[in-house]
Parts: sequence; structure tokens; C-alpha cells
Amino acid sequence: MRKKIKAVIFDLDGVITDTSEYHYQAWKRLADEEGIPFSRDDNEKLRGVSRSECLKILLNGKQVSAEQFQEMVDRKNEYYVELLRRMTSKNILSGAKELVLDVKKRGIKIAIASVSKNTRTVLRGTGIEDLFDVIADGYSVKNTKPSPDIFLFAAKELGVKPEDCAVVEDAEAGIEAALAGNMLSIGIGPEERVGKARFRFKKIGDITLTKLLEIINF
Ligand code: BG6
Ligand code: MG
Repeated sequence: MRKKIKAVIFDLDGVITDTSEYHYQAWKRLADEEGIPFSRDDNEKLRGVSRSECLKILLNGKQVSAEQFQEMVDRKNEYYVELLRRMTSKNILSGAKELVLDVKKRGIKIAIASVSKNTRTVLRGTGIEDLFDVIADGYSVKNTKPSPDIFLFAAKELGVKPEDCAVVEDAEAGIEAALAGNMLSIGIGPEERVGKARFRFKKIGDITLTKLLEIINF
């Protein structure tokens, strides 16, 4: 029998905010400029993956110099940051803030663990930076998802054992990281993407506190 979960660690892009769409638009702009075919389907592989890993996937074996690689990574980030400037609380996915607040009120600790180096900007832009007990981002650890390191870092900062944490994730790499970290995995999205999760919901708004409590006390 699993012990009661003491903390919930949320991914950011695609779980709390709709910024995964902005990541897509920024990569698409770069891909179009470079003449690289890139669809929304291709974008699914970039969820939860670090900026440079994303570019490697996008290039799909195409050889570029180290300088060109860095320039492209920087250009994508410029496009992404440009989109982030328009961000408001409307970019919070429906039901996400309510869930986070309900979990917190219940006395369960909450953290953000995203490999994005823009995590703080997104949280500030949407006005929810102060809600979380711990924020782990792309600067917190060296190995990004599917390594469990970012979740283990967040758990340590929260002072909770990994096995007493639940993770809410929309990326395949994120679910793999949660499983590798021995945490309870909750997937958001289609079976093809987060099917390995212990529990799965189509969208964050489908998780109510009652449903979450059923899961985390199982
Ligand atoms: C993740 C996104 O949260 O952050 C990825 O799902 C993104 O798509 C990654 O590549 C890194 O983000 P950033 O902001 O550091 O480029
Ligand atoms: Mg995500």
C-alpha cells in the first residue's frame, strides 16, 4: 500500500500554462526560415525536452556548425520570448490555478519543475509565481527530462521523499522522468503521449481536488 502523497510537482508548459503553443510557434518560425519541414505532430516530440535537444530533433541529422547551432537555438528563444511578452493570466490553462490552490489549501506542498529556462518569466507573466513552495527550472539541474533529476531536486527542496511525491506532466519525457524518480505519475494528454503514466487525464481541467485525492491516497 502506497503511503499518502505529501507533495504534488507540476510541470509548467502544457500543464499549468498554454505556453507549449508558443514553443511550437517559435520553432515553426525557425523551421520555416531554415526550410525544415515541421508539423504540429513533429512538435509533440519536443514536449518536455530541453532547448538544444529540441533543435537536434528538429534538424533530424542535418549537419550544422557549432556556431550555426547556437545561433538557431538563440533565434528560437528570441521568437519565444517575443511571444511571452504578450502573456497574461489568460495563458493559464482552464482549471489549473483552481487545482493548485485547492491542493495547497489541503496542506499538500506544491512545486513547479520545468526544464524551461523561461520558467520564471512565464510564472511572473501569468501572475502565479508566488503560489508555489518551490520552483525548479532549467537552471536547477544539469540533466534534463527524461532524467529524474529536476523532480528529485524539487522533492529535496520541498523536504519530501521522492516516493511521497506525485508528478503532473504532459510530456512523454516527463512521465519517464517521474517513473525513474519513483514518483506517482499523472499524465495530461493522449494515450500515445502519456500512456506510461500511472493515471491519465485528457486535460488539466479534468482533475478536481476530489479526483486527485482519490488517486494520491490509493
Ligand atoms: C519545456 C517545454 O517545458 O521547456 C519544451 O515542454 C522546451 O518544449 C523546454 O523546449 C525548454 O524551454 P526553454 O524555455 O528553456 O527554451
Ligand atoms: Mg510540459
